[in-house]
Amino acid sequence: MENPLIVGSKCYRLTEIESTNDYAKQILTHAPEGTVVVADVQTAAKGRMGRSWYSPEGGLWMSVLLQHHENYLISLIAGVSICEAFEPYDIAARIKWPNDVFLNDKKIAGTLCEVIDDKIILGIGINLNVRHFPDDLSGKASSVLIETKKHFDTQSFYHHLCRSLDNNYRVLKKKEIEVLLSKWRKHSLMVGREVSIMVHDRVVIGKVLDVDHQGALIVMRADYGIEHVIAGDCRLLR
Ligand code: BTN
Repeated sequence: MENPLIVGSKCYRLTEIESTNDYAKQILTHAPEGTVVVADVQTAAKGRMGRSWYSPEGGLWMSVLLQHHENYLISLIAGVSICEAFEPYDIAARIKWPNDVFLNDKKIAGTLCEVIDDKIILGIGINLNVRHFPDDLSGKASSVLIETKKHFDTQSFYHHLCRSLDNNYRVLKKKEIEVLLSKWRKHSLMVGREVSIMVHDRVVIGKVLDVDHQGALIVMRADYGIEHVIAGDCRLLR
């Protein structure tokens, strides 16, 4: 018999909430591992680096409660799982390190990990059927609807995503990191690209070689020095 899913074993469905990550924080102590909080609309959703996240009706806005493994690897499996969930629809979404998913060179999804004691809240925002974006996001953000001209069944995509997240989370728990890295390589748009990464108060510029077992990006600078960058704001140059 198949194992029951960890991810999505329990699900809180809300019509409107400020932020599913914040809601997940409130239920953290009593909710089982894999609990999902999903909302139709978020009124104060959070993005990375203190930014806000546009969350109107039509998107998939959710948070998953996980046990604390390396949070950079949780980000990595989130990106892989989102890309895998698009595969049955013949949509080739691509991971942009560290936390974004792109389609046709536009951002269609982002993830935000928050660590609290021995737990991680993995927030996932996917612009599935979002029709319009505010002016400050135009040209950068897009949705699957805009890119493919097809309306998505949010519910069935949600099930694909829970399944792939569950599968990759189990692989992570078994510490089969190389399996996850090879999936990352398959779905990533990073390898071979020139990047500029803001890391605290310095900028790393170079060519992406790979990702390491911690989820750090391996970058070769122009002077052939190698950097392992675990977190930062990354721009694709070429
Ligand atoms: C980013 O790219 O900046 C990360 C965006 C993460 C957004 C998701 S939507 C569901 C969850 N709840 C939040 O408040 N944020 C995350």
